[in-house]
Amino acid sequence: MKIQEKYSLKNLNTFGVDVSAKYFAEVKDVDDLKYAIEFAKINHFEILFLGGGSNILFTEDFGGLVIKLNLKGISEEFLNENEVLVTAKAGENWHEFVQFCLSENYGGLENLSLIPGNVGTSPMQNIGAYGTEIKDTFVKCKVLNIQTLEIEEFNKEECGFGYRDSIFKGEVRGKCVILEVTFKLSTKNHQIKTEYGAIKNELDKLGIENPTIQDVSRAVISIRQSKLPDPQILGNAGSFFKNPTIPLQQFTEVQNSYPQMPNYPNGEMVKIPAGWLIEQCGWKGKQVGNVASHELQALVIVNKTGNATGKEIYDFSTMIIESVKDKFGIGLEREVNIV
Ligand code: EPU
Repeated sequence: MKIQEKYSLKNLNTFGVDVSAKYFAEVKDVDDLKYAIEFAKINHFEILFLGGGSNILFTEDFGGLVIKLNLKGISEEFLNENEVLVTAKAGENWHEFVQFCLSENYGGLENLSLIPGNVGTSPMQNIGAYGTEIKDTFVKCKVLNIQTLEIEEFNKEECGFGYRDSIFKGEVRGKCVILEVTFKLSTKNHQIKTEYGAIKNELDKLGIENPTIQDVSRAVISIRQSKLPDPQILGNAGSFFKNPTIPLQQFTEVQNSYPQMPNYPNGEMVKIPAGWLIEQCGWKGKQVGNVASHELQALVIVNKTGNATGKEIYDFSTMIIESVKDKFGIGLEREVNIV
């Protein structure tokens, strides 16, 4: 494995921001990974682990060692005639992994089709879409402890999954790196999840009454393609902000002024779609310099000209946060990792 100097990260982040890493290594197995970590430790370099680069915004060049995780491989272990454990290494592309599972007729991940990124980063933010999150099928993950260089295992409870959240974003952030993830999937009698409105509509449009898991995947792909920009064409990192959750009382007050505000109550809290708040502030499709809010989904910020700097994108997101705060008194939190 080679450690390279002054390495461009432009093609390794889905925003397509033109920054470089002082040092860069691409690791294909655990030995490579340990070597790269030791190299950084000896030289007192900061380390940044990079998966698919789909949830990161670089605002400047990175002065340490970027380690691109390229561990590959998928294995299966049948538990009984209904269930299989499928383990994928961190560097497997998420969507290709989902498609592999569908080709084997393993059910459980179909609603998560076409989410950008790699398997190794999926637990960090408990990726989710269309009524499903990875915590629904997640069993365990293996990680490398950066301090001790020992391999450890985290089960579902230990991962502390929440909405776009896990222990890997909190307590153990920067202390370990995910090597592989194991999911428990169904081999027959699949549970088809179509409660999420848009999926039902899409299946109706396709004239499908009794959908298979492959049909659900096709519907999800079609919905995502209809409103989410393809990072290969227009740089972006999916939802830039989390959907805010506010106390019921605050919601009631805001709703007095905006009765049409979409909302998802959950006990004493109410989740509001950030995309709606941003659109109401007039940002949808609006461009400032090289950056814009996507014209079909305001929650997605795009590198409109391909020449945006990370700082420009960050400043644009700050303007959005400020105007949502001014108009609704609601604080938006960035979902994308800022470096
Ligand atoms: N909305 C607007 N204007 C917009 C965008 C959305 O009014 O510009 C309204 C919609 O009309 C709808 C509501 O907001 O009433 C929800 O919109 P949508 O179904 O598109 O979902 P979302 O809450 O904006 C979340 C995830 C997406 C995921 C979709 C589908 C977050 C932060 N985002 O978006 O995840 O694909 O649900 O399940 O939770 C991602 O994380 O990168 C991502 C794309």
